[in-house]
Amino acid sequence: MAIFGYSPSYGSDQNAALWRILHCIFTLVHIAFSTPPEDPVKCVSTNADCTITNSYGAFPDRSTCRAANVAYPTTPAELVSIVATATRSGRKMRVTTRYSHSMPKLLCTDGRDGLLISTNFLNRTVRTVRSIAKAMTLMVESGVMLRQLIDEAAKVGLALPNAPYWWGLTVGGMMGTRAHGSSLWGKGSAVHDYVTEIMMVSPGSVNDGFAKVRVLSETATPDEFNAAKVSLGVLGVISQVD
Ligand SMILES: Cc1cc2nc3c(=O)[nH]c(=O)nc-3n(C[C@H](O)[C@H](O)[C@H](O)COP(=O)(O)OP(=O)(O)OC[C@H]3O[C@@H](n4cnc5c(N)ncnc54)[C@H](O)[C@@H]3O)c2cc1C
Ligand SMILES: *[C@@H]1O[C@H](CO)[C@@H](O)[C@H](O)[C@H]1NC(C)=O
Repeated sequence: MAIFGYSPSYGSDQNAALWRILHCIFTLVHIAFSTPPEDPVKCVSTNADCTITNSYGAFPDRSTCRAANVAYPTTPAELVSIVATATRSGRKMRVTTRYSHSMPKLLCTDGRDGLLISTNFLNRTVRTVRSIAKAMTLMVESGVMLRQLIDEAAKVGLALPNAPYWWGLTVGGMMGTRAHGSSLWGKGSAVHDYVTEIMMVSPGSVNDGFAKVRVLSETATPDEFNAAKVSLGVLGVISQVD
């Protein structure tokens, strides 16, 4: 993810600036004491016979959806083997995240028989690239949440120019739905505009070992890269984002 050095500039009115800072501090204090929503996936037995919903507890039509089971890969390699096993037995899959913040029924699949793949434990920073030029990149797994992304970026002196307002969104979810802040500054306000490379795992043929891993980038594969950026979770599981 190409992120840039960023220095906030306040207007010339000192009082207005002070109020804005105080407002930010009180907002942050408020967020720190609130309780995050529950896990959106609930299973009858361990990871099987599950009900899935969003962070509101129900979809807009007041329903919830079902799945046969949920998998929690802890590494990108494990993710590939989960997708391969499910593809071999002809199962349908959907990606779910830590809080599943989207309102629409993007997560529902195949009655009671589907497989949910959670990115809950795919939450590591893979690498940071520094260069002499100003732009530097940070590569993370897709389950990394916005708050963690901002923290990791800050550690190496980077900042996201724009972001949606809630820290519980994941990198994969923000890619899936073109999540955005509000600005025309720089490349614009969508988080995916600052992404340079996406690694995606999709069902594959027998020759691919039933799972295909694609590394998509703006320079090498622009069409596929653009499709992967707002995929609504239907093209495959995003495992890592640079
Ligand atoms: C109250 C509220 C306020 C919001 N405010 C904003 C806002 O200010 N700005 C904004 O832009 N958006 C906003 N949104 C929308 C929010 O950003 C999106 O719903 C976002 O996609 C949620 O991210 P998530 O990580 O919870 O993903 P989920 O909701 O869990 O998933 C979203 C989609 O992405 C897919 N997906 C998730 N991870 C992966 C992956 N690793 N690989 C492939 N597909 C994946 C899922 O299958 C699903 O289809 C808001 C939503 C709500 C409910
Ligand atoms: C990843 O998520 C797990 C489960 O929520 C958590 O215990 C762990 O501390 C997280 N790791 C990082 C690097 O944040």
